[in-house]
Amino acid sequence: MPKLNVNIDHVATIRQARGGVEPDPVAAAVLAELAGADGIVVHLREDRRHIQDRDLRLLRETVKTKLNMEMAATEEMVQIAKAVLPDMVTLVPEKRKELTTEGGLDVKGNYKNVSRTVRELKTSGLFVSLFIDPDHEQIKISKEAGAQMVELHTGNYSDAANEEEMETELDKIESAVHAAVKAGLRVAAGHGLDYTNTQYVAQFEDIEELNIGHSIVSRAVLVGMEKAVSDMLILCS
Ligand code: PXP
Repeated sequence: MPKLNVNIDHVATIRQARGGVEPDPVAAAVLAELAGADGIVVHLREDRRHIQDRDLRLLRETVKTKLNMEMAATEEMVQIAKAVLPDMVTLVPEKRKELTTEGGLDVKGNYKNVSRTVRELKTSGLFVSLFIDPDHEQIKISKEAGAQMVELHTGNYSDAANEEEMETELDKIESAVHAAVKAGLRVAAGHGLDYTNTQYVAQFEDIEELNIGHSIVSRAVLVGMEKAVSDMLILCS
């Protein structure tokens, strides 16, 4: 049964829509933890479109489970991660114009920068995961780059247009999980997971953690964070 880490970026998205102080992602994290979430995930983007530096600092002080900071492999973010010291860091690709993270990190194409960033973060005692597509070559290179974990991108699976496509994508995830474990990597997964598709990914024993944001925050707006998290925990069990 994988652990459930709740990504609260979109609580901050609502706050930023008015540039005010509510809803506060720090409060959302408390409620998610009270409902049983195993961890909290935030992506501090270069353009600060949702999570702010202040959120990350306060979450470091208040999160009692595990704080996972998603970030681009840039010098600015490395310095912030080294100062804040989250429980883990996930390196993700980042483009200014994208609506959300599109595709996994191309570790092969950016090997020098990624491996240097992993090394610098690990030197500060940080645990490092790389968000990659469920692709055997990227898995192999992630290990070479020094990653301790990979988070497999479930976006293609979540976007599948029909059952057949879904099965095909699920097979790719399963094969990637095996390859990652064989390579000595710990495994997480996430992106686009919701209340209809999470249970099939949660069945893979070697996936230790699922990172889920948009669907939980969307449901939380209607029924409350605690109910939204506990509904998702049922699908992970
Ligand atoms: N994992 C990573 C690396 C992400 O960038 C995101 C989106 O911020 C998620 C998981 C969660 O995706 P979603 O919001 O679609 O659940």
